[in-house]
Formats: sequence, structure tokens, C-alpha cells
Amino acid sequence: MSPTFAQLDAGGRLRHLLTLEGLPRGLLESLLERATALAARPGHGPARGEALEGSTLVNLFAEPSTRTRASFEVAAVRLGGDVLNFDNTLSSRVKGETLLDTVHTLLAMQADFFVIRDGEAGVHERVAREVDRQAAVVSAGEAHLSHPTQGLLDAMTIREQKGDFGQLTIAIVGDIARSRVARSAHQALRTLGAREIRIVAPRAMMPEAAEFAGARRLDSLDDGIAGADVVMMLRIQHERAGSAGPVDLADYHREFGLTAARLARAAPKAIVMHPGPMNRGVEIDSDVADGPQSVIRRQVANGVATRMAVLEHLAAARRARAG
Ligand code: CP
Repeated sequence: MSPTFAQLDAGGRLRHLLTLEGLPRGLLESLLERATALAARPGHGPARGEALEGSTLVNLFAEPSTRTRASFEVAAVRLGGDVLNFDNTLSSRVKGETLLDTVHTLLAMQADFFVIRDGEAGVHERVAREVDRQAAVVSAGEAHLSHPTQGLLDAMTIREQKGDFGQLTIAIVGDIARSRVARSAHQALRTLGAREIRIVAPRAMMPEAAEFAGARRLDSLDDGIAGADVVMMLRIQHERAGSAGPVDLADYHREFGLTAARLARAAPKAIVMHPGPMNRGVEIDSDVADGPQSVIRRQVANGVATRMAVLEHLAAARRARAG
């Protein structure tokens, strides 16, 4: 996102959510509080609301997704909104229509929220500038750069499971250089005051020195997770061009796969996270992914509540600005 583009309005509310970079701690905390209040509890029905009644959310995904796209749809429906899952491959984009013409076509049908995933950096801001007064844009993933609602749901899950960020050592492990999940998690956790953030990656997957300010860098999994309270595993981003080159998956598993034996090096009650999709037997073994320390399915559940909290906030901000 360019430094001149403001995500916040004059009242400090979000106009759009494109990145967690630069958002105030109080705003992140209020979104986490609301998401926690909305989260479905065992034995209770899912939270519902009316914040999106009369509104239409368009899922505009140019890259594959299971969790993010489905959870935005569930979140919008639970808030009383209508959802259009736009299929690029069956749309007039394949006949040459530009993205902005597509967005204006959907705006003419009264779209209020555009949830966008795109592999090209800058697309989200371009759309946000175009629709600024008429609709809100939420990033569902931008290239390798950001995935803000994933960062929020990860932070929510860590707070729910482990409490005060100031007491926690959090290891983010894997293909960090090409991971938007790692960037957004780092931005959220740094703002929220995590005691220690470690990025743990083979050298070929380590990001540039200027990125991940304040984080410790380790290129050994055993050292990287030693004593950690939270171990967040990431998959290899084979689909993104970058420096890692072809990877021998058996070698990778031997050096960077999270096994039960390796997990024993983390703190005794450490939680294991993964944003999904997982590649079992590569970055994580099934007995860890499905084991008692795993909170991977809880992350998915919290994704719905987090996206409800974000949509509620954006809807309230739009109403406030409209007077
Ligand atoms: N975590 C995540 O973004 O998953 P999807 O690609 O399935 O949406």
C-alpha cells in the first residue's frame, strides 16, 4: 500500500482494510474484542447480527481459496447481508473487460463491500481509490505482501489460547520470504506487543533484512521453536515466483517439518498453528496437525468471527460517515 493512501477516516475508523501495517493498537484490540464476543461457543448457536442488512458483499478472488472466501460468505450472511461469489473464469474478464470496469459494473448493482484476493500488488488500493465513497474494500490476500484478516484471526486465536501477548514467544516457521500470512501476523503481533517474534526459515526462504523489523531470525527449526509458546507453521508457496527455487520435499521435511519429537522442544503447553492449506508430511506431520496442541481448526472457526467483526466495523463506519 502506498504511504499516501489512508485506510482510516477522520474518526479513526477503517474506510477499507488493505493491510495491518500502521493500524493503531487500540483499533486492533477492539476488533479482537468484538471477534471474541462473536465467536461461536460449543453448545451455543452461531452469533448473528443485522449490520449488513440491505448490503451486498462481492467476493472477487483471482487466486484460489477455501477458508477465506467461504468464511467471508458465512460472515456476511450471519450479519444479514447478500453475497455474490464472482467467478473470474466465467466472467467477461476473459473477454478483455478490465478489473475496474468489472468493479464499476458490480457497483452499478449496488455492491457495498469488495473482498479481493489478487496475486498482483497494488490492485486492492487501486480498487479502493476508485470506489472510496461508494464501497469498502477488504483484502483477502495481496501477492506475498499482506493478508490482514488472517493476521487478525491468528492474533485472536493466540490471545484466546495463550493470553497476554507481552508474555509470549511466537515462532513463525517456513517460506517466510513469500508469505503474506507471515507479514500480516508479524505486523499484528508486533503492534499488540508480543514479547518475542522469531522468523524461522531455510536461508533461501528468509526475507530481505529490511523486513520483519524487530524479529529474531533463525535458520534452524530446532533452535527456532525451542521454548516457544506458539509455533506457526507455513506451507511452501510453490505458486509464487521467488528466490527459493525448486525444493526437494523430503529434504524440506527432514530439516523443517514439524514432527511430534521436534514439537517437544517448544514450551510444554505450546500451541501449533497453521493458516491452511496444509501439506501434511511436508511442513507438518499429521499427528501434530491433528494432535492435542493443534489449534488449526480453531483458527478456521475464529476466521468467521474475525471477518464478522471487520465487516461490522466497516458497516458502522460507513453509516457514521453518511451521517
Ligand atoms: N488461510 C488461507 O488464506 O486459506 P485459503 O487460501 O484457503 O483462503
